[in-house]
Amino acid sequence: MMLQEINKHKYSVRQIDGAEGMLLLPDKSIKLVYGSPPYPNAEREYGVWRSSEYIEKITPFLDAACRKLRDDGFIVINVKANREKSTAKVASKRSLVIEKLAIEMEETWGLHCVDIEIWIKENPAPTGLRVACQDAYEQNLWFSKSPKWSINLDAIRRPYESHSVQTYESYEYKPRSNGNTYVRKNKRIAPNPLGALPKNIISGGVSARIDDHPATQPLYLPEKYIKATTEENDLVVDPWMGSGTTGYAALSLGRRLVYREIGTVPEFRLEENIGGETIIKMIRI
Ligand SMILES: C[S@@+](CC[C@H](N)C(=O)[O-])C[C@H]1O[C@@H](n2cnc3c(N)ncnc32)[C@H](O)[C@@H]1O
Repeated sequence: MMLQEINKHKYSVRQIDGAEGMLLLPDKSIKLVYGSPPYPNAEREYGVWRSSEYIEKITPFLDAACRKLRDDGFIVINVKANREKSTAKVASKRSLVIEKLAIEMEETWGLHCVDIEIWIKENPAPTGLRVACQDAYEQNLWFSKSPKWSINLDAIRRPYESHSVQTYESYEYKPRSNGNTYVRKNKRIAPNPLGALPKNIISGGVSARIDDHPATQPLYLPEKYIKATTEENDLVVDPWMGSGTTGYAALSLGRRLVYREIGTVPEFRLEENIGGETIIKMIRI
């Protein structure tokens, strides 16, 4: 029933708890769970997920994701632990709960770490805290369900920097005197025509605006993981929809999308233009 709706419209958006919403999908149907949960200690209208209870709060989401992910599926969680409040005796410390979560994802949920990527925010929002360096990054916990995974690196290659093109042109690889055999004889390596190997850091501005709607997450974040881990028509699920950034990336790349959100949900509409190109419009209700 649920899949029929998704196949017909290409997407499904529901105001429901994200973990419960995932459980409505058939087992092993999702290729990528991508999303940004409430951040540890962030005070929001939907409540606070404190560091001390963070793993407990996120447990139903990971349980549901593991059941519903295909065997070749992936999960990427974009998150950052906010500093804990200082007290008379303890300065405001940065919680290690995200590092703990990454370890639990491997040890408790049996997931396999592809990488923990760092999103460097070029224009970080001021926090008003003056006790440590300014917070300017977030983590993307990237895990695979299968121990033997592969990702589409070609889909996320980047332009070569001029100095590396020069290195390719002028550098000759030679066998090492230490006996390493990966270079057996002198050779030159040509750059890959599709671009340089992507980096495991992502740099950019903190937010994007699409039409008139603010999106709290820039499009380039979900885009990277959708391109690297899914193909056309694969099912992408964001159980913490928020303002709806993941959907723009997923739908414009021709993937099917499931959104779950406990708060107010922005409604999506797909429109075809005359040239047959799909335009994605979002209307807040
Ligand atoms: C960090 S925001 C997501 C931002 C989103 N990636 C974007 O680009 O706008 C977290 C979202 O999770 C939602 N949320 C909180 N608890 C939830 C739950 N139990 N189920 C589903 N969504 C929940 C919040 O309402 C909020 O919109």
